[in-house]
Amino acid sequence: MDMKIGVIKGDGIGPEIVDEAMKVLDRIAEVYGHSITYTRLLMGGESIDVNGVPLTDETLEQAKESDAVLMGSIGGDAKTSPWYRLEPSKRPEAGLLSLRKGLNLFANLRPAVLYTDLKEACPLREEIADKGFDMVIMRELTGGLYFGDRSTEVIDGVTVAKDELVYSDTEIRRIAKRGFDIAMKRRKKVTSVDKANVLDSSRLWRKVVEEVAEEYPDVTLEHMLVDNCAMQLVKDPTQFDVILTENMFGDILSDEASMVTGSIGMLASASLNETKFGLYEPSGGSAPDIAGQGIANPIATILSAAMMLRYSFDLDREAQAIEDAVGDVLKDGYRTADIMSGGMKQIGTKEMGERICAYIK
Ligand code: IPM
Ligand code: MG
Repeated sequence: MDMKIGVIKGDGIGPEIVDEAMKVLDRIAEVYGHSITYTRLLMGGESIDVNGVPLTDETLEQAKESDAVLMGSIGGDAKTSPWYRLEPSKRPEAGLLSLRKGLNLFANLRPAVLYTDLKEACPLREEIADKGFDMVIMRELTGGLYFGDRSTEVIDGVTVAKDELVYSDTEIRRIAKRGFDIAMKRRKKVTSVDKANVLDSSRLWRKVVEEVAEEYPDVTLEHMLVDNCAMQLVKDPTQFDVILTENMFGDILSDEASMVTGSIGMLASASLNETKFGLYEPSGGSAPDIAGQGIANPIATILSAAMMLRYSFDLDREAQAIEDAVGDVLKDGYRTADIMSGGMKQIGTKEMGERICAYIK
């Protein structure tokens, strides 16, 4: 297969971790007889430095012409980076939001898995961690508070800031379907998370999700209020299979879910639209504090590349080969600093990438 992959290396640890994911993709291409053409795309802080804006129209077009985009992470330290002296619409994050909207990437899939070999990294009590967990968060990505009108104005001497939270039934229906589809391939349970005791948008969310559920009689649906969900994630994460939720709640809950795995450096994510196209990126951020030191964990990005092979190219065998190689490296005791524990062998970013490549045969 010929794959046209756009690559956004991004800011902070982005370039280091993406380089390792590209090595792994090249190794897959070599072993399984595929060819890959990479196109470098600039987005976020790097694009601001070169083009003055976090995303240009040309870059968006180039992304559209790719079969899929692999991304590191964007953004810098909000206190020290000059990017954060720009107005909000010109900052690195605005580029990411425009890219999501411009490519209509409404479905954001974020798995949070507790790896058996990494149980010690889990911050939860042993009796909770011992039960293990394996969930995916299906987060709506192009609506809600992130994309409503916003303004800050002075009214009669009082400064008032406003952010609008809007959802239509069609937006809710398409993400709900994605949530149920993925549940059908898993343990057939959807927990739809909202704030229906307060918000109109949540009451509509609940109604539409219930309508969609009727088309999936094999899937068990439960509703959970977002504050309770935040609590349940640390109390009993085993109960979750698919968490289906709106943009803002999904942002917060996915960070929480990844934290309880104890290994955010391990978690991949995919942002998808109605086509085979997808944007694949690690769940973690750009970690500017450790950038350039060669110690960042590249596994989340490598697993994002595996998700890309599976969802955008239907290369299940190749995706599995990457996931197995990651499992083997962990089993053999190799760890980057973030997941290091007693008796294991600590290695850096490059060596982790190379070892994973070596396990792909
Ligand atoms: C994420 C990030 C982004 C978001 C930021 C960088 C705009 O936190 O992908 O979760 O809030 O969606
Ligand atoms: Mg986030």
